[in-house]
Amino acid sequence: MNHGPLIFLGLLFTMASSWCGLVLAPQLQLGNQQPVAKGSTSYPPNRPGLANQGREIYRANGCFYCHSQQVGPRDSSSDITRGWGKRHSVAQDYINDLPVMLGSRRLGPDLMNVGVRRAEDETGTNLVWHLQHLYNPQITSPGSIMPSYPYLFEKRQLSRGQAHTAEALPLSGRFAPPEGIEIVPKPEAFALVHYLFSLQSAEVALFEAPLPVPPPPVGDTNAAPAGATNSAAK
Ligand code: HEC
Repeated sequence: MNHGPLIFLGLLFTMASSWCGLVLAPQLQLGNQQPVAKGSTSYPPNRPGLANQGREIYRANGCFYCHSQQVGPRDSSSDITRGWGKRHSVAQDYINDLPVMLGSRRLGPDLMNVGVRRAEDETGTNLVWHLQHLYNPQITSPGSIMPSYPYLFEKRQLSRGQAHTAEALPLSGRFAPPEGIEIVPKPEAFALVHYLFSLQSAEVALFEAPLPVPPPPVGDTNAAPAGATNSAAK
């Protein structure tokens, strides 16, 4: 008896059902996600142009080989306890990213929310932290196994007796450049740090991933606060 057609139909059915389950169903559920309104803005926000350029530097340098960008759920991972984000990551977080750089190994911390942990501040402290860390991780994190990225910086020759310019990266001790030389971040380094500043998704509450409700303060009771009174007349 010829079983050929039966085998063909069986295989076709198996392939078609797995395609429906693994490709079609997720596409129908998540494929058409749009930014959601959050107050006066939408989420996820569009990245500023500089941060978008930085994304390409991040990609070109393979930062994702060591850093993930995905916070796991509280009940099956310790990511939230470690302070890598307040909630787990969901598909909505990535709709502006192409390609999505989830990362598969974690030799370094997850960076999904690094823009909140080491946020851009007015004094520029965190900007300098990131730049020094990229120039040589040993400056900020002694013993780190993260590679240095010195080619994101320019070595500038100073004329005799000239002081360092305002653009120079502050470096001291054994990391200080030799006399007459200063280290200046290239535009690529600034763009990369602005990309890192833009990674803040795990702080925004979404319908499918709400932020945890903070537990009531210890010793909280239903008793009226001290000094409270019910009298209307005062
Ligand atoms: C070989 C693995 C490796 C690669 C590649 C790597 N990192 Fe790291 N990274 C680490 C490790 C380990 C740490 C933790 C120690 C430290 O702070 O240096 C870290 C820390 C960091 C931190 C601080 C995170 C925090 O929460 O404090 C940032 C930001 C960072 N890396 C950015 C980058 C960027 C940007 C690149 C690509 C240019 C990159 N890393 C490439 C391993 C790596």
